[in-house]
Amino acid sequence: MEETQYYKTVYSKYWAEQTKKYGYAPYEQNLVRLIKKSSPQKVFEVGIGTGWPIGAALKKKGITVDGCDIAESSVALAKEELNNEDGIWIGDVSEYKGDTEVYDVVYCVRASWYIPNFYRTVKKMVSMTKPGGHIIFDVMDRNSLFCVKQRWKYVKEKYYKFLGIDIDENYGQHFISLTRMKLFLKRNRLSYQCWGERELTHNKDIYNTPKVVFYCRKER
Ligand SMILES: C[S@@+](CC[C@H](N)C(=O)[O-])C[C@H]1O[C@@H](n2cnc3c(N)ncnc32)[C@H](O)[C@@H]1O
Repeated sequence: MEETQYYKTVYSKYWAEQTKKYGYAPYEQNLVRLIKKSSPQKVFEVGIGTGWPIGAALKKKGITVDGCDIAESSVALAKEELNNEDGIWIGDVSEYKGDTEVYDVVYCVRASWYIPNFYRTVKKMVSMTKPGGHIIFDVMDRNSLFCVKQRWKYVKEKYYKFLGIDIDENYGQHFISLTRMKLFLKRNRLSYQCWGERELTHNKDIYNTPKVVFYCRKER
């Protein structure tokens, strides 16, 4: 199965269950805190999933949450969760045909590692954001212990597949170099702050905390 097709069908069913298991934990609460920090009225989420818990927490604060996702079943759930029939649509954000500079905040959380060429996605997110608005996303640091572990697992699975041994289908995730991302943000004249997952959540597990959150501001 092709990677995009996998996320559209198999993964979306898994995620609908998994998001409930993860719950609204400190990491997700920190993301919501950052998204609502500038008191936005209208935001857009790239890879919105089911719209719960992040979109739902924002909606509770009276914020309009638009968004997109490549998985049809997730979009249907998000539309219902966020009571937003028109602003949530199926597709990759590169297909966005609406006006530019309309959102106070455009964010992509817990999804960048499924998106090939995430830099292109960030550029699109910037184009949709109002001058002075914010672009927020998290990435998996490719130098973290978790990512090193995942890369080995991926190589091992490829080898088993080559030998004809049955294994669950698994796709390599897209990890990001923090140095390259920081350079990219500078080149695109975005000021930013960033925090590691452990710093935000006080989780001490160094093997399973690869995420880094970027909080960027578009020039006026
Ligand atoms: C782990 S879920 C996170 C969902 C949501 N952002 C959240 O935090 O609850 C990742 C989501 O990204 C979506 N996704 C993967 N690739 C995508 C792409 N190229 N464009 C939009 N969504 C994508 C998947 O379908 C999935 O719903």
